Amino acid sequence: MAQTTLSNLLHETRRFDPPADLAAAANLKADAYAAADADRLGFWAKQAERITWETPFTDVLDWSNPPFAKWYVGGKLNAAYNCLDRHVEAGNGDRVAYYFEGEPGDTRTITYSQLKDEVCQAANALIELGVKTGDRIAIYLPMIPETVVAMLACARLGAPHTVVFGGFSASALRDRITDCQAEIVITADGGNRKGKPSALKPAVDEAVKECPDVRNVLVIKRTGQDVDWTDGRDLWWDDVVGKQSTEHTAEAFDAEHPLYVMYTSGTTGKPKGILHTTGGYLVGTSYTHWSVFDIKPETDVYWTAADIGWVTGHSYIVYGPLANGTTSIMYEGTPDTPHPGRWWEIVEKYKATILYCAPTAIRTFMKVGAEIPAKSDLTSLRLIGSVGEPINPEAYVWYRDTIGGGKTPVVDTWWQTETGMIMISPLPGVTSGKPGSAMNALPGVVADVVDDAGESVPDGSGGYLVLKEPWPAMLRTIWGDDERYVDTYWSRFKGVYFAGDGAKKDEDGDLWVLGRVDDVMNVSGHRLSTTEIESALVSHPKVAEAAVVGASDVTTGQAVVAFVILRTSADGGGGDVVDELRKHVSARIGAIARPRSILVVSELPKTRSGKIMRRLLRDVAEDREVGDVSTLADDSVMGAITEGMQPAR
Ligand code: WT7
Repeated sequence: MAQTTLSNLLHETRRFDPPADLAAAANLKADAYAAADADRLGFWAKQAERITWETPFTDVLDWSNPPFAKWYVGGKLNAAYNCLDRHVEAGNGDRVAYYFEGEPGDTRTITYSQLKDEVCQAANALIELGVKTGDRIAIYLPMIPETVVAMLACARLGAPHTVVFGGFSASALRDRITDCQAEIVITADGGNRKGKPSALKPAVDEAVKECPDVRNVLVIKRTGQDVDWTDGRDLWWDDVVGKQSTEHTAEAFDAEHPLYVMYTSGTTGKPKGILHTTGGYLVGTSYTHWSVFDIKPETDVYWTAADIGWVTGHSYIVYGPLANGTTSIMYEGTPDTPHPGRWWEIVEKYKATILYCAPTAIRTFMKVGAEIPAKSDLTSLRLIGSVGEPINPEAYVWYRDTIGGGKTPVVDTWWQTETGMIMISPLPGVTSGKPGSAMNALPGVVADVVDDAGESVPDGSGGYLVLKEPWPAMLRTIWGDDERYVDTYWSRFKGVYFAGDGAKKDEDGDLWVLGRVDDVMNVSGHRLSTTEIESALVSHPKVAEAAVVGASDVTTGQAVVAFVILRTSADGGGGDVVDELRKHVSARIGAIARPRSILVVSELPKTRSGKIMRRLLRDVAEDREVGDVSTLADDSVMGAITEGMQPAR
């Protein structure tokens, strides 16, 4: 069943071998797979050598009480020391940590020693405010260097941070502060988005009204906009931090000391606080950043074009890159401000060598057209990555050709907030990439695809993606809710971690992640993947972007409903196009996948992290009142869709 419905993706036969020079000089070579298979814990002990331990660990893993893992037992370390001080001590203090580019065009170049000084000052300021090891601190900031400073100041003191994405509402912020009982909130007057200042402080004011535990709000001045002020509670960051000493000796904490809590978005009900701890997380993020992006800290200019408010930013803007002593780019704003070529201008300006972003961004650039990136010199890029959702083959190839000059490897990286680190990805110097496939579990990681009964499926079949062995950067629990941790991730299949994604092993045993299992439809008893149909739609020359949902249907159980954005060059959105597209899907996959309805829209509802909110599209498809739109990047989109669409059956 899955075999036929997945034929579209699996008929993809293009292969892209690693460039010879990259392969020859690659950080991780093919023998790493065998080494990790032969002695997995020995492999993870070896990877831990990239971290500086104040006290060495005695055991790599304590798995005596699964699924509660303890990695690097007995080891002590400080995360901020590992990200900053040790690089300065090694004589690399003058290396650039971040090239910061503000949306209005202001820039800052921050070296490792400058960043260390600022983090020490911030740590001293937090001490003055009474912060003690173990206290929680909420961070609600735009994409500015102080966000990193605030996070590392917390890490330095062993005070777990919870960064709440700046696009979240006051009530979402309140729920997160309350759940982890944060006592201090670090925010800004606002940040710059789409060419104007976008306020943050009012949301904090509203949120903390209902958070009696919050005693201080530290406010960074970014936009200069007016703010309301509560005397005694609110403090300007510059006043409190600026006067502090740049000396602070980092204390070493246990490897399992909590580093941060990151709440997962998109689920209904109480947010899940994903807990990451110190030693394993730093080993996992630094190892994967080094191996997947083939990082050469002396020469690379690395750019994760994501927000620090998500796990991608935590692991691959902050902890992984800094632990590896990398030079990164940090950009504050939206990709199309003040013009659609802003990202490419940044790549050219800083001679970025590695770019890591989401397929949704890539498809948006496809929609705008190849002539925009063509205006910039992108030849500095040697490796490009994708994360967050399945990348359809057309977007992969466009990305490789148009951004990567037809020569850079594309690493399609699968992981989750919960995994903390990249789990499944090609190795750029080893793997021949297949467009649309995340390929293989990294050395040290054990992934599989299983059927309903938890049995490993043969090559050529689909099922559920699971992780069969613990890994260093894994979540340790859901903050304050061990039972929910066990139920959500470790109960569906005995003894293994259930990721919530559907996946397929192709005939070579390579992995294709198909999306959340709740996005998999069942039409007349046939399992269909939303990704596969979207991929088919996007492969049509007139389609720029597509989202598919399963709408309940009295006859077939579920029916396929597609929302499509046409390319600017495609004329109109009339019945002809719709008919053409239905036939196209039918031809690519089979009649069973032919959408019952195709709605031509001008925009798709997305969260600020770029995820399409299919829940809302399902509401439209099922002719229901549209649900909660508070996490949308632009909450007017749903109105435009319901008013402007042209249902065609
Ligand atoms: C979910 C996790 C990983 C950081 C950003 C998202 C989907 C992620 C891929 C990929 C197919 C992917 C999965 C996963 N996902 N990367 N390369 N191919 N799907 O983190 O918000 O925790 O979401 O994103 O469905 O379960 P997140």
